[in-house]
Amino acid sequence: MAETQLNTSFHDVCRRLLENVERKSPDLADGVMTVAADQYRDSGQWRREMERIFLKMPLLSALSCDLPDAGDFMSYVMAGRPLLIVRGDDGQVRSFLNICRHRGARLTDEPCGNASRFVCPYHSWAYDSRGQLIGLPDRQIFGETSIDGLIPLPTIERSGAVFTSLDPQAAFDLDEWLGDMAASLKALRLNELFAYRKTTTLASPNWKLAADGYLDGYHIGYLHKNSIGAKAITNRNTYDLFGPHVRIGFANKRTHEIENLPPERWDLAACMSLVHFVFPNVSISGGHGDTLMLSRLFPGPSVAESTTVQYQYFRTPVEGALLEEAEAKRVAYEEVVRDEDCATIFGIEEALPAMDSSPIVFGRNEPGNQRLHEYIAQVTS
Ligand code: FES
Ligand SMILES: [Fe+2]
Repeated sequence: MAETQLNTSFHDVCRRLLENVERKSPDLADGVMTVAADQYRDSGQWRREMERIFLKMPLLSALSCDLPDAGDFMSYVMAGRPLLIVRGDDGQVRSFLNICRHRGARLTDEPCGNASRFVCPYHSWAYDSRGQLIGLPDRQIFGETSIDGLIPLPTIERSGAVFTSLDPQAAFDLDEWLGDMAASLKALRLNELFAYRKTTTLASPNWKLAADGYLDGYHIGYLHKNSIGAKAITNRNTYDLFGPHVRIGFANKRTHEIENLPPERWDLAACMSLVHFVFPNVSISGGHGDTLMLSRLFPGPSVAESTTVQYQYFRTPVEGALLEEAEAKRVAYEEVVRDEDCATIFGIEEALPAMDSSPIVFGRNEPGNQRLHEYIAQVTS
């Protein structure tokens, strides 16, 4: 018989979920935590979060399958910085500021595409897929002035994911940054995915209110009882805290099916749900089965605003009948997150001014949220 390659870390999550169902408790934090409401509405606090977190730390900026071929690119504005991520003609993924070295015009406004070179729309300066300046009209007019290529940003591609720091001077150690989250991301086999190119963009309030939703295993069977939570056994979650990153396991009504089966026969995709929160702004939902949804949170432009973009991925190329399935999933997630999650957190955003004497409470069953706020407090104080 052929060897069965067990994905041991996810099997372990499933085993722990079953234990939690049987003992009727999720994994618990040591204590209850409170966070003052002004932490979500103070502009000074928000600026420190942008400067010390979003503009400094490595961000999961793309999946490799967003840029499978030479010349494939993605562009977006993250925390006020226009970002261009490109797979060069040498196969290497690089990130740049999407800013022309002449007078700063944006090179492309397309969210994704393929280009062997980027020609600035303003005066036609041209850059290749490695960011080098390869042509400008009437070069002699600029005399001996040395003119550089695009401003590169530190970038590492690893196990199917691309990490970028928005600070051109930053040096980061990805092993140190991810810790044990690296092995769990590797187990998701992100490098074997195919992107469904159509994404969903949703308005959301303060970015931490949205991130709190990404990290919340407690609400699934309540807020989503008629949608994605219908099959869940709520509040029996596993939580793995990997530095600022969090992995959440969700039990569902089929979790008990593993009880009398050998691990190689467990249907993990049917028996549990899984979320990887990669600090500070990416949630990967699923991936232990055939599909995966990635949500990327864009903070700002003010303390009370953010945007969430949802991306769908599959284990096989998204064509033929799978296109319909992908579109149906996209629409379903859009409705759930817009009408349930976003509607709820916009309500909290509106309530914050009235909550000055009533802090936000995170119970022992919300260790992921506790970790988020502990870590942010530590780096912004
Ligand atoms: S600003 Fe780009 S060519 Fe002038
Ligand atoms: Fe939710």
